[in-house]
Amino acid sequence: MNQQARVDAAPIPFIDVAAQRRRLGTAIDDAIARVLGHCQFIMGPEVRALEAELAAFCGARQAISCASGTDALLLPLMAKGIGPGDAVICPSFTFHATAEVVTLLGATPVFADVEATSFNLDPESLVRAVATARQAGLAPKAVIPVDLFGQPADFNRIKAVGSAENLFVLDDAAQAFGASWQNRRVGTLAEVTATSFFPAKPLGCYGDGGAIFTDDDALAQTMRSIRVHGEGRDKYDCVRIGLNGRLDTIQAAVLIEKLKIFPAEIVARERIARRYSEALADVATVPKLARGATSVWAQYTIRVTDRRRDRLAAALKAQGIPTAIYYSKPVHLQDPYRHFPLAEGGLPVTERLAEEVISLPMHAYLDEPTQDRIIAAVREALEA
Ligand SMILES: Cc1ncc(COP(=O)(O)O)c(C=O)c1O
Repeated sequence: MNQQARVDAAPIPFIDVAAQRRRLGTAIDDAIARVLGHCQFIMGPEVRALEAELAAFCGARQAISCASGTDALLLPLMAKGIGPGDAVICPSFTFHATAEVVTLLGATPVFADVEATSFNLDPESLVRAVATARQAGLAPKAVIPVDLFGQPADFNRIKAVGSAENLFVLDDAAQAFGASWQNRRVGTLAEVTATSFFPAKPLGCYGDGGAIFTDDDALAQTMRSIRVHGEGRDKYDCVRIGLNGRLDTIQAAVLIEKLKIFPAEIVARERIARRYSEALADVATVPKLARGATSVWAQYTIRVTDRRRDRLAAALKAQGIPTAIYYSKPVHLQDPYRHFPLAEGGLPVTERLAEEVISLPMHAYLDEPTQDRIIAAVREALEA
């Protein structure tokens, strides 16, 4: 193999965390060293500083950091007193943590379908899911729309159903912090928003982490208490059942540095997604943004029909190009979730998407020659 062929065949990372690490340079090392210097590893000054910066970034009154995106979903449901006999409507075309938190509280997830173009919760299926919940003798209490792959759900229509049905709307924005909807940033689109700082997320830390956003000061206070074992006046005064859901100070220090380059990374992600779409629209169904929506492109996901997906994945793999299928098995078809109710009419769009979607490498440091190699390989495989 000549030198050029070897370069061409070099494996491409799906998400290049190491390239970002290089860009950040010693800023991260210095930030971690500061924490090692002051030794306030739990709820140190960086935690408060990060919360203020996250709130300012998205425009929410309150940002509450926590240990993971899963805790960021769990805490608000606990604060709202969701429990046995309650139904929480969620999509099935999501990572299963969305429904997991509902079951952890003894409540019942009722699965609704998604829209094929946005991959996000279908407001009409949401209405049917509420009816299903009532027929099953459950009290519909909340809905968790997911901003899948980085694009916000249709909050105008979902909130309209939410107010008509008196549902608490909890935005699962684990994949979408930094995106916006009609000029408002994710974090302000629902009563409460949950996000994840898992390393592969658009804004990720170097371990587990998450955050909750709300404009409701009283609810924020309750969630801050739940985050620290239900603490009251101080940590030895317990006023409710809580958990240990704190974000580590070291992770907060990492996130403060990463937040500084996040706006530039969002612009890069948008540029890369646009390039993919322009180059692939004639050979696959490329993702479309709803009017007024921006995405942070946690995933760049195309759809291919007629069972060509496996062939595409294999052809790319042979050239060192990884792909991923989010999600090949929707939550309602996973064994622990099979017995939960589905919106009337079932979830035909979810089940079809599970057979058609495939995600391509996507991160802010994907350079044009590498992206061109991916594009050429996709085109070659789909045109064959
Ligand atoms: C849609 C969605 N919800 C929730 C989570 C859970 O986040 P975490 O892994 O930080 O607990 C994830 C993360 O993978 C996710 O993608």
